[in-house]
Amino acid sequence: MKKNFIFATLLAMVAMTARGQVYLDPKAPVEERVKDALGRMTVHEKVRVLHAQSKFTSAGVPRLGIRQLNMDDGPHGVREELEWDSWNVAHWTNDSCVAFPSLTCLASTWNRDLAALYGHSVSEEFAYRGKDVMLGPGVNIQRTPLNGRAFEYMGEDPYLAGEMVVPYIRSAQANGVACCLKHFVLNDQETDRYSVNVNVSERAMREIYLRPFQKAVEQAGVWSIMGSYNRWQNVQCCHNEALLKGILKGEWRWDGALVSDWDGTHDTWQAATGGLDIEMGTENQNRVKGREYTYDDYYLGNAFEQLVVEGKVPMEVLDEKVSRVLRLMFRTAMNPEKVVGSMCSEAHYEACRQVGEEGIVLLRNEKGVLPIDATRYRRILVVGENATRSLTRGGGSSELKPQRETSPLEALQEAFGSTATVSYAQGYSSGKALYDKVDAVAPTLQDSLKAEALQMARESDLIIYVGGMNKNRRQDCEDSDREGYDLSFGQNELIAELAKVQKNIVVVTFGGNPYAMPWLQQVQGLVHCWYLGSESGTALARVLSGKVCPSGRLPVTFARKYEDYPYVQFGAEAYPGVDRQVHYKEDLFVGYRHFTSRGVKAQFPFGFGLSYTTFAYGKPAVEQSEDGNVVVSVAISNTGKRAGKEVVQVYVSAPKGETHRPVRELKGFGKTRLLQPGESETLHIRMNAADLAQWDETSHRWVQPHGTYTFHVGTNADEMRGKVNVVL
Ligand code: GLC
Repeated sequence: MKKNFIFATLLAMVAMTARGQVYLDPKAPVEERVKDALGRMTVHEKVRVLHAQSKFTSAGVPRLGIRQLNMDDGPHGVREELEWDSWNVAHWTNDSCVAFPSLTCLASTWNRDLAALYGHSVSEEFAYRGKDVMLGPGVNIQRTPLNGRAFEYMGEDPYLAGEMVVPYIRSAQANGVACCLKHFVLNDQETDRYSVNVNVSERAMREIYLRPFQKAVEQAGVWSIMGSYNRWQNVQCCHNEALLKGILKGEWRWDGALVSDWDGTHDTWQAATGGLDIEMGTENQNRVKGREYTYDDYYLGNAFEQLVVEGKVPMEVLDEKVSRVLRLMFRTAMNPEKVVGSMCSEAHYEACRQVGEEGIVLLRNEKGVLPIDATRYRRILVVGENATRSLTRGGGSSELKPQRETSPLEALQEAFGSTATVSYAQGYSSGKALYDKVDAVAPTLQDSLKAEALQMARESDLIIYVGGMNKNRRQDCEDSDREGYDLSFGQNELIAELAKVQKNIVVVTFGGNPYAMPWLQQVQGLVHCWYLGSESGTALARVLSGKVCPSGRLPVTFARKYEDYPYVQFGAEAYPGVDRQVHYKEDLFVGYRHFTSRGVKAQFPFGFGLSYTTFAYGKPAVEQSEDGNVVVSVAISNTGKRAGKEVVQVYVSAPKGETHRPVRELKGFGKTRLLQPGESETLHIRMNAADLAQWDETSHRWVQPHGTYTFHVGTNADEMRGKVNVVL
């Protein structure tokens, strides 16, 4: 009997193999499934999985029962369905989503647990929409406050960005949805993004710009990465051998699939040999004469297949790429553990609100104007277009179609409407369409809106101004940088005039970047919200009303004036570049590294954020483990009258070396739980040797100079509350 059974099984396996079915148990290890599928695929089938078959899908292997890879934007939520072959929306009626807060808002929470919750929640929405690869998150560095896409990234510091992106990726991929970390690398401006070549020192490249990506590879095992449009060493990053095969796949031994940015591929030979695995969005119809342009015309399509068939490209090169793509498929599309997911669940709205509430940063609070004591005011006037306008529409590929988006105005009416009349004046207009040129609004319209707001301000007891930036072009929007460091649409004049009429004024701004605030001394309260997504109004109202104590901390430096940013002194070649060559002349001195090392006083420093309560710091203690890790412990007590959370930051000063280094750099942080008045919590902040290392440009490797390191415990980049010295 047994013999017959074995014989019958073998027969079945042979039969299936003959038919080409994938006979391996779907629960077999991924690497076995990869090898098995690779061994069955024809050359043409191998080439087809290396490029798009539609706007957002790359081909599977139907004959083997391996389905296509479904990709979709973006970092803040799953984008509405687009047509198969175009950028037009498909007008589905079941693809509205939760718009989660912007990633700069997530960074502002300094809360690793919230990063994990965010990745878990947003990937459930991608899974439910049948997507395998989410095109995000992004960890490009905010070196200029004019970068149009800064709102999609996680600030100016590589340590904070790396620490916050790792939990997001881990929890998203635990659901069987791949992250596609972007944009690799040096896509730190939108001006000339398709062609600018970035010149940057080796140590700044390693310590600042590559560092968050390296952490995501080494600590989160990110499954795919998107090459950036720009060039490094004058070679497109989407197929840059030194970057992709030298550093990413070589040194870092990354096993994922490198996806091009859409239309970021420019040459077959470079794509073949430069480390690209999946070519997406190529639009070079002009290459084919007299017939329809098809997906086989992609650089990694027929032209590449020809090179393989002619033996000009060894089969191993093809197989190496295909193995990476198959690995991505078996981790996601073909993963039996991939979740079904969910859309617009209460859990997702709760997560959205939590991230928003903890990302809001309280920057100024004079005369205790915040939290707003509803019994003190009978007539509250809300002024500003951002109190009603959607901030999830527009902005480029990260735009979303939210199922709901609670506006600040409706939430403020809900919060204060029972004890005061809450009226509204638009105050300014940013133009009708999402893609208007900035300030293309008729001055007569601006004047009449301002006059109306000032008139209503005269009959109010409190003004809540809600403005800042939006997702128009030349604001926070892909493919364009901001026009300047000032707020647009006449807002500075409007705020100053409102403050003259009514001294009780709280300013609330939205936006992905710092900005100038000439009216700061004239207003009592200032709150910055980044972008809060679907629960925008709810999160804001809960903070302004005191239901939630603000605990956000800036992930970027707010300079007093534009000229204070480190690269400005070097002129146009440092930004936005001359003849498509940009030079990062500030080297390591990006953001607070410049301000603290050169004694330039920031308007609000990196890591800054006020609370409705106060905290006392105990004396820090330090332990050193044999593997070079350091743990700094510090007790934090709530010495105020309201429950709140404190973010403790550890900045490290390395021993004086021969190379000029920033005076101190963020190398650790922790956030307390919600501490009731009088409660204390001791935080143990762990820093590992890799984070304390420096890049040595002579030996081209990481080193840790021997000597005394000072670990400063601070509440922001300027205010230290204690320090300990350690010899490493
Ligand atoms: C865009 C963006 C990229 C996005 C892709 C698909 O140009 O640069 O972030 O994921 O194309 O929309």
